[in-house]
Amino acid sequence: MEPILSIKNLVMDFRIGHSSSNIMRAMNDVSFELHQGQALAIVGESGSGKSTGARILTRIYKETAGNIQFKGKPLAEYVTENGELEYARQVQMIFQDPFSSLNPVHNIYHHLSRPLLIHKRVAKRDVREKVYELLELVGLSPAVETAEKFPHELSGGQRQRVAIARALAVDPEVILADELSPC
Ligand SMILES: Nc1ncnc2c1ncn2[C@@H]1O[C@H](COP(=O)(O)OP(=O)(O)OP(=O)(O)O)[C@@H](O)[C@H]1O
Ligand SMILES: [Mg+2]
Repeated sequence: MEPILSIKNLVMDFRIGHSSSNIMRAMNDVSFELHQGQALAIVGESGSGKSTGARILTRIYKETAGNIQFKGKPLAEYVTENGELEYARQVQMIFQDPFSSLNPVHNIYHHLSRPLLIHKRVAKRDVREKVYELLELVGLSPAVETAEKFPHELSGGQRQRVAIARALAVDPEVILADELSPC
């Protein structure tokens, strides 16, 4: 069966400072495949390029070299029009540090309703109910109360659950969990 994600010979160089000759290679010739229903763990020491790989897959970084295919098509084919938005929905990331991926000026309701509205996952009138459902799903009850809170009013584990709920909100095909701690 065709893999959902296929990564071949991925290379990522970061430029250090302003000189184009000063380069740090964060990933060197990385290849792997992810199949439907599979959980794949990538293990490596600190600084070995795990988060960088996840960031490339969510298109935060553009790889220096290599080939990435999602459902048999090169990522470049998802870049046009709505394709990019559709790829962004299907491949969700839970960031290593949930504090930095939540906006301190917005409450939890905002964080969970936004992806639902952007990706049009539910009718507008059903958004509130869906947000509560997601909060219950990740164990953040009472949902009505949690929804009104701001990120700093939650514990680290609770913030991570919000990040999980946000990834689940759009019904993704792939979830990239960057160092999820048991919470
Ligand atoms: N935006 C960036 N600019 C320059 N260098 C970077 C950037 N992001 C990461 N790096 C470097 O790339 C290397 C890989 O970093 P990465 O965050 O992918 O490691 P990691 O395997 O996730 O580590 P950890 O287990 O500590 O989370 C590190 O040496 C890091 O300093
Ligand atoms: Mg990391």
